[in-house]
Amino acid sequence: MELEKIFQNNENWIAEKLNADPHYFENLAKGQTPEFLYIGCSDSRVTAEDLMGLQPGEIFIHRNIANQVIPTDNNINSVVQYAVEHLKVKHIIVCGHYECGGVKAALQTSDMGQLNSWLQTLRDVRRLHRAELEQIKDPQQLFDRLVELNVREQCMNVIKIDHVQKSWYKTGYPKIYAWVFDVRTGKLKDLGLDMEKEFMEIREIYDLKPLEKEGH
Ligand code: CO
Repeated sequence: MELEKIFQNNENWIAEKLNADPHYFENLAKGQTPEFLYIGCSDSRVTAEDLMGLQPGEIFIHRNIANQVIPTDNNINSVVQYAVEHLKVKHIIVCGHYECGGVKAALQTSDMGQLNSWLQTLRDVRRLHRAELEQIKDPQQLFDRLVELNVREQCMNVIKIDHVQKSWYKTGYPKIYAWVFDVRTGKLKDLGLDMEKEFMEIREIYDLKPLEKEGH
């Protein structure tokens, strides 16, 4: 696709929006009040708004390779803090996808330069769930399962973030969801994990509540 085409698309999009509502951009400029934070993969096939049918202003988005939530990543921490403290999002969605190149790379033994460190957490997911994964003989099933387990572990990493815990104890939000998008069918799948329950099981390790000093 030529770059000119993109600017033409943009003009068409503006015309479409204004045709439906002459005040569209005027209202859009007033601010955002999204209820969702979406953490997904950068993969060009997994277009967050499109696949969920959401419009500008409805969802706060963070994307990186293989939807990682890495504790020392200033980017994800800033996004989560802003979403929780300022936008007060009620829902945080971690959405992985089948056929994820990042997950596939973590299933291989190869030197990938800068990607080595980024994908290390994915290899950690493999190690954490080694017993289960070693039972799976079919390579495609193994690949799919690692995609799912990665989403679960990244949800866990979201709960480990202090801003999330503080808000959680104060308001009961945000709720955290583990989803997978299937690029083979277009279907969005809820893994059905109860992240509150999952967190309670590891709470004695990751709970930061004593740091709050709220007098109880
Ligand atoms: Co991916």
